[in-house]
Amino acid sequence: SADPGRDTRVPAVLDVAHRGASAYAPENTLAAIDTARDLRATTVEIDVQRTRDGELVVIHDTTLTRTTDAEEVFPGRGSYAVADFTLAELRRLDAGSWFGAEFAGERVPTFEEALARLARHRLNLLLEVKSPDLYPGIEADIADTLAEHSSWLKPRPAWKWPRLTIQSFDWESVARSHELLPDVPHGLLGLVPAEDVDDYAWADQINPSHTVIDADYVELVHEAGLEVHTYTVNEPDDMRAAIDAGVDGIISDRPDVARRVIAEE
Ligand code: G3P
Ligand code: CA
Repeated sequence: SADPGRDTRVPAVLDVAHRGASAYAPENTLAAIDTARDLRATTVEIDVQRTRDGELVVIHDTTLTRTTDAEEVFPGRGSYAVADFTLAELRRLDAGSWFGAEFAGERVPTFEEALARLARHRLNLLLEVKSPDLYPGIEADIADTLAEHSSWLKPRPAWKWPRLTIQSFDWESVARSHELLPDVPHGLLGLVPAEDVDDYAWADQINPSHTVIDADYVELVHEAGLEVHTYTVNEPDDMRAAIDAGVDGIISDRPDVARRVIAEE
C-alpha cells in the first residue's frame, strides 16, 4: 500500500466472489459468473473437478445431488459422485432450478467454458482444486488446459491482483500444481499451524476460514512472505474484522457487500 505506483482503482483488499456471486445466483454456474461481473467483482472463485471421461468441470460438492436434478434425470445411480458421470451426462442436468426457477436450464460448466466467460468479463480467477485425492493427475490436467488458454498464464505487475491463483485444501496437491506452474500464485486453503508457516514459504497465500484467524496470525503469515485471503465472509461486521486483522483478500458470496465494506475501510 506504500507503493506510489499502485493503481488506486484496484482495491487495497481483494474482493473474491465465492463460487461466483453465489448469494444471488446458483453457485459455480455461468450465471453466477455473470452476476459477479454485474456486481463489479474483480475476482471469482470456482471449484474444479473431473468427470468419468476426464473432462474438467466446475462444481463444489463431490456429488451431484445438492445442486443438480441428477436423481430425477438418472434414477438409481448410487452415490451420484461427479467422478461417475460423463460430461455428456452432466450436460443433461439442470444446475440452476434448485436455486430459483429463473435459473432453470443453467448447466454444470466445463472449466474451459468458465475460463472463456471470465475472460470475456475481464474477471480474475481463484481456482480451487476440489478433492484432488479423487482425481489423480488433475493438477496436470488443469495445467494443460491453462496452457491451451495461455493468456491466463501471463504475469501481471506486482501491484495488481493476480489474473489467476490456484488453491486447495490438499496442500500436497498445491505443491504438485506449483511445480507444474511455478509462475502462478498458489494458496493453501485452511489454517496452516503458526509453527509450520515457514515450511510453506514456497506458496503465496494461506487462506483460512475467517472464524479462525486474528491479527497475530495474519502478521506471522505476512512476515513469512505470504498473503492471507479468508473465506467465506458474508456479514459486514465479519468483513470489517477480517480487514482490521490485516487480510489481503475477502472471499464472499456477496461480492457487492465486500466491495462496499472494503471501500469504507
Ligand atoms: O475459496 C475458499 C472456499 O471456497 C473454501 O471452501 O467449501 O466453499 O470450497 P468451499
Ligand atoms: Ca471453493
